[in-house]
Amino acid sequence: MIEIAGMQMEDLAEVAAIEKSIFSQPWSENGFAASLQSKDTLYLTARLDGKIAGYCGFLQSFDEADITNVAVKESCRRRGVAETMLAELIKRGAARGVTAFTLEVRRSNAGAIALYEKLGFVNCDIRRNFYEKPAEDAVIMWKR
Ligand SMILES: CC(C)(COP(=O)(O)OP(=O)(O)OC[C@H]1O[C@@H](n2cnc3c(N)ncnc32)[C@H](O)[C@@H]1OP(=O)(O)O)[C@@H](O)C(=O)NCCC(=O)NCCS
Repeated sequence: MIEIAGMQMEDLAEVAAIEKSIFSQPWSENGFAASLQSKDTLYLTARLDGKIAGYCGFLQSFDEADITNVAVKESCRRRGVAETMLAELIKRGAARGVTAFTLEVRRSNAGAIALYEKLGFVNCDIRRNFYEKPAEDAVIMWKR
């Protein structure tokens, strides 16, 4: 069973380890800690068998939210973890007054793009060379 909960300070070591195992420019534990302390953010964890399998979160500005992090441990993928946690993030965001969600994704990340399309996001724009290590265009997606 997938259990979704608000991210807590005591989750951060586990979250930062997953982040480091996935991304070439990972957020640090301190970066997550600073984000958690802001009242304009919402971060969730997804647990499988009690262990953190994934996490996601957004930074809210008025009625818009920028989804800044989405990650699922490699060993836990394709079991609905990302879809479940993002659906909950969107639900909790809507309850806080968010009417539009946006995110950026690497153009080559077909799996993530398919996930976001399944959740109702649409491609809106390309930002050239947005990413480094390796350099790549970003697809900007919105769900309104
Ligand atoms: C993208 C990512 C978050 C997906 O997590 P996940 O828990 O495996 O996704 P889910 O199991 O919830 O997938 C839900 C749906 O999304 C789509 N999807 C997810 N991963 C996919 C893939 N690799 N290829 C094609 N479609 C995919 C499918 O439609 C899937 O439904 P299905 O399994 O019934 O076909 C995960 O692969 C990941 O952490 N990747 C590395 C980090 C990353 O790219 N983060 C996003 C940065 S913007």
